[in-house]
Amino acid sequence: MCGIVGYIGDKNCVPILIDGLKRLEYRGYDSAGIGIVRENDAIVVKNKGKVSLLEEKLVEQNLNSNLGIGHTRWATHGIPNEQNAHPHTNSKNNLFIIHNGIIENFQVLKNALIKLGYTFESDTDSEVFAHLIDSFLNKGYNLSKSVQMALIEVDGTYGLAVIYTLEPDKIIVARKGSPLVIGLGEGENFIASDVSAILAHTKQVIYLDDGEFAEVSINNFAVKTIEDETIEKEIHEINMSLDEIDKSGFNHFMLKEIMEQPESVRNSMRGRLQAESGSAKLGGLTDVVDRLINSKRIIISACGTSWHAALVGEYMLEQYARIPVEVEYASEFRYRSPIISSHDSFLVISQSGETADTLAALREAKNKGALALGICNVVGSTIARESMAGVYIHAGPEIGVASTKAFTSQLVVLALITLLISKRKGISKTKAVELATELNAIPKKIEQILNLNEGIERLAKDFQNAQNFLYLGRGYNFPVALEGALKLKEISYIHAEGYPAAEMKHGPIALIDENMPVVFIAPKDSTYGKVINNIQEVKARGGRIIAIADDADGEIDEIVDYTIKVPRTIEMLTPILTSIPLQLLAYHIAVKKGLNVDQPRNLAKSVTVE
Ligand code: M6R
Repeated sequence: MCGIVGYIGDKNCVPILIDGLKRLEYRGYDSAGIGIVRENDAIVVKNKGKVSLLEEKLVEQNLNSNLGIGHTRWATHGIPNEQNAHPHTNSKNNLFIIHNGIIENFQVLKNALIKLGYTFESDTDSEVFAHLIDSFLNKGYNLSKSVQMALIEVDGTYGLAVIYTLEPDKIIVARKGSPLVIGLGEGENFIASDVSAILAHTKQVIYLDDGEFAEVSINNFAVKTIEDETIEKEIHEINMSLDEIDKSGFNHFMLKEIMEQPESVRNSMRGRLQAESGSAKLGGLTDVVDRLINSKRIIISACGTSWHAALVGEYMLEQYARIPVEVEYASEFRYRSPIISSHDSFLVISQSGETADTLAALREAKNKGALALGICNVVGSTIARESMAGVYIHAGPEIGVASTKAFTSQLVVLALITLLISKRKGISKTKAVELATELNAIPKKIEQILNLNEGIERLAKDFQNAQNFLYLGRGYNFPVALEGALKLKEISYIHAEGYPAAEMKHGPIALIDENMPVVFIAPKDSTYGKVINNIQEVKARGGRIIAIADDADGEIDEIVDYTIKVPRTIEMLTPILTSIPLQLLAYHIAVKKGLNVDQPRNLAKSVTVE
């Protein structure tokens, strides 16, 4: 949430900051701004709305500077407007800060600063940083020390960057709870909230950890803890190309990412799945696999789409690995005094690896002695680094706010973990080979589903004006119903509910009439007969039915209004296939409504605040 970028070097920083902000816009897009320092002069330009509007404003001003910071905002405190946009400044206008996170004790600090004579221009918590740091500068401390002392006073989370006209040879950055990387160049350095902002300029990065701050100059960087201990940091090489974070000719990142799924799931399996022997090799789990297999319980925790993947994982692991599994919303887990011990494995799932609640749940479980594991997409993310062991899904960068390819890759990785454990627990060779062979065939089957895109687009036309939607599924496809509903509501703003199909009779059936589209996820699995009964119940009440069904199912066409056929696979893997038409349906409905599918209102890609 919120994007941060900064530059110090011999080039003009303005285009670098704007390019970085555009790449970060998926993290927040309420407002944007830059602050630059040149010849003892400091200039802030900010704007409500998209980075493109800020860019237009900047073109008129033709600014040039070698030091600057930029921010794209996802509002927490204060509405999205120009005043609340970052950078925030001190009253002398010679110190700029950009902040990602929440200052929990901002009101106390603000009141104290007001008493000292400081005046505030915005409603944000972040502005506190500008005046607080200024209060230490006024006492004669240098910038680095002033930031350090301010951080000691602040409770909450921050990814912070600060520049100061009187020390124009540095950017100070700090991190607690919100990611920050330093990018290393030749005669120039960068800072950013994630690598996509600086990938065009460097692939060498340093990840700050919580409780660290750094002084970054043109040719150097120095990292310390807030307690003033110097820290040696490892330099990481980013293994990602710029093409991966471009739209590559697609109108939206979301469509590009949906279409990438044959390849992204292949990448999730590459080098890990051995179809002929029916086994899976997951290097990241090698050291902990015995402990994992002997866990009394596996708790899977996540948020949003990743939580839906966790639910599918629960079905997979309980059916094949025969270990009790519980699935927890990360946001609930951390606040309910959970009972957890060293006999448990605690697995978090997160595309970004930065979700604040998921990270907090991981830390809580780790503190309580559980085997704390992570399934992440973003390499080097905080969850990936703080997990005791884990598996990357290797789906490649996911930029669209609506998660699509990360979901299917998470399911693939959960299937691989299931195969790994169940093989060790004595599942029959025949069963293991069947499972592995089916998994191996999934990318080709996804290709077949993607060929239905035009038909799904036509279908979307009939439903673009719907006010509500119901998604129903059973067993493995109940989480898919939840995921389908989430996809639709987050990008089309149509109210949608996902339910286990059998629960419909216990309430939601009252909603059904000819204006209620109902999507049934109905592959020919062990619950098929029951789902058909539920379909009949909806039909009897006049609901308009779309069914996601097996391509060999001729029977269902007679009952429902629309069918989208997907290739057959084993029950456990059906969610990987059935979720894809639902992604396309949501996408086309949102596009037909003229909405910005990549940046839906009020949302951000990476939720780094509670
Ligand atoms: O990065 P994470 O997987 O931890 O993110 C979790 C949710 O914020 C995320 O899945 C969200 O629900 C998506 N917008 C869904 O499309």
